[in-house]
Amino acid sequence: MQEKSGIPATAPVGLEEKAEDYLKNYDEIKESRQNWIAFLGAPGTGKTTQAALLAKLLIAKKLVPVRFYNAFNLTRQLIATRSRPAEYEAIFDEFERAPVVVLDDFLKILPASNSFEYANFKEAATRAIWARYDARKPLILTSQRTQKEFWNFDEALAGRVFEMCAGRVVEFGENSKNWRLEYREN
Ligand SMILES: Nc1ncnc2c1ncn2[C@@H]1O[C@H](COP(=O)(O)OP(=O)(O)OP(=O)(O)O)[C@@H](O)[C@H]1O
Ligand SMILES: [Mg+2]
Repeated sequence: MQEKSGIPATAPVGLEEKAEDYLKNYDEIKESRQNWIAFLGAPGTGKTTQAALLAKLLIAKKLVPVRFYNAFNLTRQLIATRSRPAEYEAIFDEFERAPVVVLDDFLKILPASNSFEYANFKEAATRAIWARYDARKPLILTSQRTQKEFWNFDEALAGRVFEMCAGRVVEFGENSKNWRLEYREN
């Protein structure tokens, strides 16, 4: 079936090379101290698709449970439950316990840097990264932010993310296609 745009409804999507390597060597990678992978780049270039496909194949081929989190919802939940320690810790517990986590669209919506919300947001985002880092557990991250933006946001956070990825950062650069532009009508 063809969509109006010409994109087949079931466009064949293959795993990107670094993701394929991650899948193939998952058993070894998960035991190593650096076991994360990140998909960074512009909107609509396929970051979530790659992360979801990798998750699906980890479930199907490695029989490993994967939990998918939208980063915005996670930080919002953490901020909302901040004054209720039992609920707050329960969210972390679940986030930390999952054998593999997909954290989708990390740092997408940033509150103004001089706002009260910013401090809360930064704490929630940082603690989420810390949780997986301290436990040394696999994380599949997607973000529209560049590596430079990660470093500008917070050095300690960026340092942990890129240390854990150990070179497994897939960048969808300027020349990457925004698949959604096919749907633009004017
Ligand atoms: N390799 C591909 N071939 C065809 N279509 C693709 C491919 N990769 C992704 N798409 C389609 O392009 C659209 C955008 O993909 P996706 O949501 O993964 O992008 P994204 O980089 O996560 O975007 P955002 O930054 O806005 O979250 C989706 O409709 C997806 O199905
Ligand atoms: Mg996405």
